[in-house]
Amino acid sequence: MVVITRKLPDPVETRMRELFDARLNIDDRRMTQPEIVAAIKEADVLVPTINDVIDAAVIEQAGPNMKLIANFGNGVDNIDVAAAAKRGITVTNTPNVLTEDTADMTMALILATPRRLVEGANVLGESGKWPGWSPTWMLGRRIWGKRLGIVGMGRIGTAVARRAKAFGLSIHYHNRHRVSPKIEEELEATYWESLDQMLARMDIISVNCPSTPATFHLLSARRIALMQPTAYLVNTARGQIIDESALIEQIEQGRLAGAGLDVFEHEPAVNPRLVKLAAEGKVVILPHMGSATIEGRTDMGDRVIINIRAFVDGHRPPDRVLPDRI
Ligand code: 8YV
Repeated sequence: MVVITRKLPDPVETRMRELFDARLNIDDRRMTQPEIVAAIKEADVLVPTINDVIDAAVIEQAGPNMKLIANFGNGVDNIDVAAAAKRGITVTNTPNVLTEDTADMTMALILATPRRLVEGANVLGESGKWPGWSPTWMLGRRIWGKRLGIVGMGRIGTAVARRAKAFGLSIHYHNRHRVSPKIEEELEATYWESLDQMLARMDIISVNCPSTPATFHLLSARRIALMQPTAYLVNTARGQIIDESALIEQIEQGRLAGAGLDVFEHEPAVNPRLVKLAAEGKVVILPHMGSATIEGRTDMGDRVIINIRAFVDGHRPPDRVLPDRI
């Protein structure tokens, strides 16, 4: 049996039903932790999402048939991959198919935050509040000609860089290793071995690395303080990569211009201080919508199906996540 923890797009669910003994969640009610444990005891395959915590304690209770955790999502920070491997459970994810959608949303935040897009739209939303055009009213910050520093130059980081280059930003990046000279050349990208040095010199920082124990609070209070007071921080990766309270404090105190955030440290809870900063136009906040397109979510479902199908047919699933890659 394949247990799917959340409602998936209709065509994906139809196909799942055709192919497998699938237990769907058509009401889309978030499963409780005891329900997840019950599912992992019973199922052969579990299809969780980011909201489902599949930690070592859950994996320990896996039933004898549980062989595959086919995550509906690219990031696998919700799963203890090492604990799964120890128990002989394969983990897969859904890479590639959400790269471009997430890069689009990142670019949207790179544009929306300095150009005060949401703040401006809200003025018209609250009728009568628009005093009319003025040469000095609602001024944001220019985008083109600025320096964008990308933290994590993987698939999504590179896709962000391509877009940003077309918008006239110069591309800088920090990554565990340098990307190929071909990509550096195409993007006219500058590699910074030192994250600290890059942070201190950028106008906009975009976080595009995975959330792992090594990247937890990578943007620590000390590092955020290195950024220029006119700089912006954009995060469409995971909230845990940034020390969120430190970020809030820097913006509140005027030591950082603002932030565009699609992800939060304690999701789905959003710090009320961030909501206040959003109301003041200093941050743009979105409810984790990076990959939220009909096409993207359908493609993600298709990847999940391909992974399950390959696995049950005795092949190596294409999107296997290995513990040593985390
Ligand atoms: C998904 C994401 O919506 O895939 C990821 O890593 O962050 C999101 O775009 C979510 O993870 C689904 O589980």
